[in-house]
Parts: sequence; structure tokens; C-alpha cells
Amino acid sequence: MLRVSDRLDRIKPSPSSMAGQRARELRAAGRDIVGLTSGEPDFDTPDHIKEAASRALVEGKTKYTDVAGTPQLREAVVEKFRRDNDLDYKSSEIIVGTGGKQVIFNALLATVQSGDEVIVPTPYWVSYPDIVLLADGTPVFVPCAAENGFKLRPEDLERAITPRTRWLVMNAPNNPSGAAYSWDEMRALTDVLMRHPHVWIMTDDIYEHILYDKRAFFTPAQVEPGLKERTLTINGVSKSYAMTGWRIGYGAGPAELIKPMVKLQSQSTSNPSSVAQAGALEALCGPQEFIAERTAEFQGRRDAIVPRLNAIPGLTCHLPDGAFYLFPSCERLLGMKTPSGKCLESSDDFVLYLLDTEGLAVLQGTAYGVPPYFRISFATSMRILDEGCTRLARACAALSP
Ligand SMILES: Cc1ncc(COP(=O)(O)O)c(C=O)c1O
Repeated sequence: MLRVSDRLDRIKPSPSSMAGQRARELRAAGRDIVGLTSGEPDFDTPDHIKEAASRALVEGKTKYTDVAGTPQLREAVVEKFRRDNDLDYKSSEIIVGTGGKQVIFNALLATVQSGDEVIVPTPYWVSYPDIVLLADGTPVFVPCAAENGFKLRPEDLERAITPRTRWLVMNAPNNPSGAAYSWDEMRALTDVLMRHPHVWIMTDDIYEHILYDKRAFFTPAQVEPGLKERTLTINGVSKSYAMTGWRIGYGAGPAELIKPMVKLQSQSTSNPSSVAQAGALEALCGPQEFIAERTAEFQGRRDAIVPRLNAIPGLTCHLPDGAFYLFPSCERLLGMKTPSGKCLESSDDFVLYLLDTEGLAVLQGTAYGVPPYFRISFATSMRILDEGCTRLARACAALSP
């Protein structure tokens, strides 16, 4: 019998990927499923990006590239950081990977070892703790309360730092809460980090451009240049440019960090797809206006749906600052009974109940480290969101004390 390694036994399959697969299977079995689990824009990749990739194919750009990405794409990334974030990097300080996920994976695998702690504010994107565990590290969770807009408080960060802390993982706008930081809020966190020079900062800025209500985006090394020498700034084309399937993400940091990450990538996947890199180059250098148009569409959906959720007795939903998720609490429904007599003990039970009775697929808060919540993606049409709200309201109304 095959023996799976202890390393693999420590982790679980990505809950969001599994939920998507489950919804597809139920649909294939003939169930009428409304899926609100998707972590990708429902828009298509813009034509000018597709055309650039087609041209790359015709021109024979189909061979291995530099492991860290083509010089042209790394230059475009340098320019992107200069243009959008006021950050000055050299091309040798950039790595392009197969999605932002691989960049995170490379950084943690290259630097974390047994006994090292990695601070992960909750709620968190599903993959951070598991990648830390795979790297033999210990995730240290710091709760970010709903009352504080799910934002990390400087005093909680300070308390979580120990001599064993290697990294703080930041993600704003946040998946799943949508929380984003103002300059002053970010400054309060960077002030703490300046007092702890052994802590490195990994900032996952993948939702940078999906910000609402005219908010401006700030990244830690921009707010406190004194942190740049120990910050890895991660971004990618998946969310802003609707290119999730292309698998291109990138990171910028000091060469002493980027070099071992490139070494690891050279022994795993080598360069990301050459054709996808050509598409990403056009994404970063071509027209950017469509991003604001699409973000306005997301904001319209957010504004239409949040009041509907808050009108459902038992649910409470805050207004996210960015990204395309809602993260309502179902705490007041726990302890209630379903029509078949089952008591809802957790958001896992609630999510299963929604799927079984209404064919409504959402994600349970436990996947994000915050049990009495669930995640709804609004990266889908208003028609589907309408139907989702109707089903959710019906399921909640059918519960009894
Ligand atoms: C916070 C966050 N980081 C990273 C990723 C992964 O992005 P990529 O497609 O670039 O690997 C996701 C995708 O859902 C995400 O939500």
C-alpha cells in the first residue's frame, strides 16, 4: 500500500478548490446548483491580452525562459511597482512564478524550518497555514475581530511576535473579509514591525486593484521604506486582469531572498509558461482602464447584495472594502433546527444544509480560521446572486429555534 509522507499528512486539500469541484459534480449529477464559491472574476481575459499571447505562439515564443521569468516581463514588473506602488526594484529582485501561490510557496519553503513561527492573521486565505506546515513551520494565528473591520490591530501583532517569528503574512484587500488598510492603519503596523528587525513581511497584494469607495491602496514597503529590505511584495495578474487560468504571479524583494526562491523554482517547475508570460507582459503594459470599470461593476453588486443579506434574520454582513467576497456571520443561527430536525452546530453544518436543501454552494468559515462565518463570492452575475439570496433567505426562514 502506498505510504503518504508525514509532510503531506499535515495538510488538507484546498477547501475552495474542493468546494468548486463538489458543485461541478452535483451539477453533472443533475442538481440545480447556485455556486457562490468562485475565487475568480466572471469576466473574460481582455482581448488585447489574448492577442498578445496568440502572437507569442505564432512567433515561436514556446521555449524555456529564464527560471525567474523573461527579462521583459521582469522589467514590466519593476515598472508596475514604480508606477502603482512607489517602489523601486531591480530586475534581479523580481521572481515570476506559476501564480502568486507559487511565489508564496517558494518563499516559505526557502526560508522556514522547524521551530519557526509564521504569523497569520485570521481570517486568512486558505493556503497560508498549510504552506507553512508543509515547510515544517508553525502558523501563529492572530484573530482580527469583525468589530475592528477584520483588521489586524498593532497591539495584537506586537503580542504575537516572539524570537522565533520568521514572517508576518499580510493580505489586503483580504480574502475572505475584504478588509483593506488606510495609510495610518498600515503605518501603525509598520511601526510595530520596525521595532522587530528579525521579522520579515510577506504581503499578498493580489486584490490591489479591486478596492471600493475610491479607497487608495497601500503596501507595507511603500508606507515604511525602512522595511523594504525584509519585505516580499507579492502580486499577480489572476484577479485584476481576469487571468486565473494563465497562472502568472510575481514577487519583489531583496536579492538575498529572491535568489533561493529562484533556486527552488529551478528544481520544481522552472519558468512559468512562456506564452502566459507574454500575456502577462501585455496585461501589465497595455491599457488599464477596464480594471476600474470592472471594479465599479463589482461594487454595484456588493451594494445590492449586502443589504439583502442583512435583511435575513440571523445573518450579519459587513461591507467589504475590497476583493469580491462577502463574509457574513451565521452565529445567531447556530443552535437552530433544520426542517429535518438536525441541530446546526457550526458553519460547516449550515453550509452543508444550504447545499442539501437549496443547492446553494458557499464556503464555511472554518476554512478561513473563523468558524461562525461563511464566504459568498460576488464574482458572478447579478442574476445568480439574486437567486442565491432568495435561496439563502428561504433556507434561513425554514429554521426553527
Ligand atoms: C489572497 C490570495 N492570494 C493568492 C491567491 C492565488 O493567486 P494565483 O492565482 O496568482 O496563484 C488567491 C487566489 O484565490 C488569493 O485569494
